[in-house]
Amino acid sequence: TMELQNQLKQMAAKAALEYVVEGEYLGVGTGTTVGFFITELATSGKKVKGCVSSSEATTRQLLAYGIPVCDLNDIVDYLPVYIDGCDEIDGNFCMIKGGGGALTREKIVAQASEKFVCIADESKVVKQLGAFPLPLEVIPMAVSSVSRAMEDLGGHPVVRDFITDNGNNIIDVHGLQIKEPQLLENAINKIPGVVTCGIFAHRGADVLLVASEAGIKVTKP
Ligand code: A5P
Repeated sequence: TMELQNQLKQMAAKAALEYVVEGEYLGVGTGTTVGFFITELATSGKKVKGCVSSSEATTRQLLAYGIPVCDLNDIVDYLPVYIDGCDEIDGNFCMIKGGGGALTREKIVAQASEKFVCIADESKVVKQLGAFPLPLEVIPMAVSSVSRAMEDLGGHPVVRDFITDNGNNIIDVHGLQIKEPQLLENAINKIPGVVTCGIFAHRGADVLLVASEAGIKVTKP
């Protein structure tokens, strides 16, 4: 049920507190699981130098708790940890992200971080990526051409009724069986007009915290 899933998300969120490096910057993802994490962080008493946010929604939540938010461009020293959820994660820690539409900033902050800690309830763990429709952030004038390119790759593109924080569109590509995440990430990244592909294979997770009724399982690739 929804209630159980939320409890699991909250458990995973709480387990991530251990990875927060006090006195340093922290990268913060987007979504409901991260929403629970932000609440846990705020009530934990752990103090970070500042958070690098992956969306306007996350920025609002952080600021509502009085947690300082800083610009990635102003961070010259290191960003040790990025904490985020995912839509799907496979056995190699490759992910599909972007269900919340924040994939571009998420990929930027993830790439800038030393360690990606993925927090998830067990429903996110899959053998093969692709049952969750793959989100692409696309420059508005390229929506039709990118959609056709995705049909050529065997997908069924659906334009989401949504504008991203960067003023672009999201195409959700259904029906892809993603056998080789890195290759498909590369191929989609080359299509003109694609800003970001929701496959996170080149920069996958470094630690996975999965919550189930049995408790928290911590795994590394
Ligand atoms: C946001 O753009 C996504 O990448 C999220 O990480 C993903 O949708 C997970 O969201 P929930 O924590 O709400 O399931």
